[in-house]
Amino acid sequence: MTTDEYIRLEDTYGASNYKPLDMVASRAEGVWVWDVEGRRYLDCVSAYSAVNHGHRHPSILATLTEQAGKLSLISRAFRTDQIGPFSEEICTLSHSRKVLFMNSGAEAVETALKAVRKWGYTKRGVPEDRAEIIVCDGNFHGRTIAIISFSTVEKYKKGFGPFPSGFKVIPFGDARALEDAVTEYTVGFMVEPIQGEGGMNVPADGYLADIRRIARERDICLVFDEIQCGLGRAGTLFAEDFENVRSDVLIIGKSLGGGFCPVSAVLARGDVLDVFAPGEHGSTFGGNPLACAVGRTALRVLEEERLAENARRMGAHIRRGLEPLLGSLIERIKGRGLMLGFELRPGAPSAADLSRSLLRHGLLCNPASATVLRFTPPLTIREEEADWAIDKLTSGLAEAMR
Ligand SMILES: Cc1ncc(COP(=O)(O)O)c(C=O)c1O
Repeated sequence: MTTDEYIRLEDTYGASNYKPLDMVASRAEGVWVWDVEGRRYLDCVSAYSAVNHGHRHPSILATLTEQAGKLSLISRAFRTDQIGPFSEEICTLSHSRKVLFMNSGAEAVETALKAVRKWGYTKRGVPEDRAEIIVCDGNFHGRTIAIISFSTVEKYKKGFGPFPSGFKVIPFGDARALEDAVTEYTVGFMVEPIQGEGGMNVPADGYLADIRRIARERDICLVFDEIQCGLGRAGTLFAEDFENVRSDVLIIGKSLGGGFCPVSAVLARGDVLDVFAPGEHGSTFGGNPLACAVGRTALRVLEEERLAENARRMGAHIRRGLEPLLGSLIERIKGRGLMLGFELRPGAPSAADLSRSLLRHGLLCNPASATVLRFTPPLTIREEEADWAIDKLTSGLAEAMR
C-alpha cells in the first residue's frame, strides 16, 4: 500500500482526535524511523519521551521476547516472580518506600490523586469530601475527566463537563502563590518540575526547594509528575534531583516501558500508598509480568548506558549548535538536558507549520505548544546524529523563513 492509501484508511475509520503529519512509519531503530516508502527520519519527539532508550533497544527487546515466551499476563489476584524484584529495584532507585504500578501516565496521576485525597482523610483528619489539591497553570497531566477538570487549556476541557471539584489552580513557578493557596483542607500540591506540554517551562532555581519547604511546613503531600521530565530526560535521573529535593509522591511513566509497552508507577512514602486496602484500587494490566520485566531492563539500561549524562552532554551540544539561529527564527531555547523546546520569534511560522516543513528535511518534530517546537530526541543520540539534526534544523528553519 502507498502512503496515501494508509492515510485514507486511517482518516476514514479512525476518530480524528489526532492530526498526524503525512508520514506513515513502518520501522525504527535507535534514533531513526523509516516510512513505508523507505524514507529515513530522525525522531525528535521520541513518543513524548516514551522512547528515551531509542527505538527497539536490543536489551529491552530481548527481555520483552524472553518474558513473553514465559509469562505475559496473569491477574493481580496472583503473585509473579517479576513484580517483587521490580518493586524493590524501582523503590531503591527513587528512594521511595512503596510503589503502585499502572499503565498509562494518566492512570498513575489518577492513582496519586486518589492516594493523596485518602491520605488527607485518614492521616490528616480532613473532613470527608472536602480535600483540595493544588495544581499549576499550564499543567498537563493526562486526559481523564478528573485530570482535564483542572487543565487551563480550553480545548482540553470544553464539551467534556461536568467535572469533579476539589482542585485549585495557581501560577507555575510561584512558591508564594502556593503559600497563599494552602488551606486547612489542602492535602497536596501536584506539579511537573519541568512543564512539558505547557511549553518546556523550567521554573527559576530554588522553586523546587521552596515548594518542598512549604509542603513540609503545611503538612501537605508534594506530588511531582515526572512522567515526561523524569528518567534521565532532563539530564538527571529525576528532575527533582536538580535541586536535591525529594517529593512525597513521584509519578513516572512513558520511558519506564522502554519504548515497548505502557508502564507507569506511583512511588511514595509508605504512609501515602498504605491508604489503599485490597480492592480499593487496581488495574487489570498494572504490574503485569511483561511490563515489570521490561521496566526492570529499561531502568538497568538507563543506568548502565548513563542516559541522563548523555542527555546533559547532548543537550548542551545541541544548544551550542543552534546558537547561530537565536534571534532570527528562535527567540530562545527552553528546557533542560534533552527536554528542549525552541521558542519561536513573533512572526515566525507556527510550530505546527514548521513541523510540517521539517519533515521534508528528514526530521520528525511536533509542537510542545503553539509557539514552542519540541526537540526531544532519544537519550541515546550520538554526537554525529545530533550534528546531523542541527544541520537539518538549520537548513529547514532557514527555508521556512523564506
Ligand atoms: C507530565 C505528564 N503527565 C501525564 C501525562 C499523561 O500520560 P499518558 O499519555 O501516558 O496518559 C503526560 C503525557 O504527555 C505528561 O507529559
